[in-house]
Amino acid sequence: MLSISVKEFLKWEKIQLSKGGNHQSFHLLLNLVAGISSSDLYLFKINHGKIINLKKNLDFLESIWEEHLYNATPIQYLCGATFWRDLKLQVTDQVLIPRPETELIVEIVFEIFGKNTKKLFFAELGTGSGAISIALALAYPLWEGIATDIDQDVLDVATKNCINSSSVSNLRFYCGHWWEPYHPFKGKLDLAISNPPYIPEDTYEQLPKEVKNFEPKIALLGGEDGLKHIREIIQKAPQYLKEKGWLILENHFDQGEKVKQLLIENRFTSVKIMNDLSGIGRFTIGRYK
Ligand SMILES: C[S@@+](CC[C@H](N)C(=O)[O-])C[C@H]1O[C@@H](n2cnc3c(N)ncnc32)[C@H](O)[C@@H]1O
Repeated sequence: MLSISVKEFLKWEKIQLSKGGNHQSFHLLLNLVAGISSSDLYLFKINHGKIINLKKNLDFLESIWEEHLYNATPIQYLCGATFWRDLKLQVTDQVLIPRPETELIVEIVFEIFGKNTKKLFFAELGTGSGAISIALALAYPLWEGIATDIDQDVLDVATKNCINSSSVSNLRFYCGHWWEPYHPFKGKLDLAISNPPYIPEDTYEQLPKEVKNFEPKIALLGGEDGLKHIREIIQKAPQYLKEKGWLILENHFDQGEKVKQLLIENRFTSVKIMNDLSGIGRFTIGRYK
């Protein structure tokens, strides 16, 4: 633990921000590594006389900040963690950094199921860090969740995140291609969720370097038109969902109408495109028959 005066800290902060980057990433670094939250910072700024206790020294923080600025490495990978809803999750470079817009999937589930206290079966295909499934397992302790991914290393991270987030025992992790691990659950799922790779090939080539050079390609690329995985997930979903079971998908900003059509063609009802906080049709949901 390192103690410095607020005045000294604010002077250092100003120098770091003058090197470039954005405030949001800098504050994420302070929160993840130094243990200083944005509300702590606000309080320091209105009370200059105080002493700040940092978990790591300024040189260490500065070295991470400079690596982020010079190589465009995401702060989350440099710090090995991120915040998502009220969870602090470990992330490695094999795991997609869970995005703030994806947090809304949990809200969509709340909207559909409310404070459901019955036992339900839910599935998450392509769980990555485990963010969505862990949030649901915590919110619905009576539900049984099965979260899957194609990559066992990714699942090891998700399992650690689950253990670190609570003592919930209603979530299991399996490795395999989309629906493959769900064979024992055919016709038994009340809800299936996926934020699959959906970036079209030409868009992938133009992604910002902090995404393209660092985040796993397998988590992003959705084939030529971006819909390769979404198509497969929708086409096979009727075998696994219960009658009236829900499918919730995240999609690229302009794929909502196409995903809606795919759901209708595969006999889904109550099909709806739902917006993210920027008003983009980011989620498409439907109910099997
Ligand atoms: C866009 S990421 C979503 C991760 C996490 N659910 C989230 O929202 O942050 C897609 C995930 O799907 C996984 N994935 C890719 N291809 C897959 C496949 N064929 N079967 C199962 N999972 C796959 C990737 O490893 C990655 O973790």
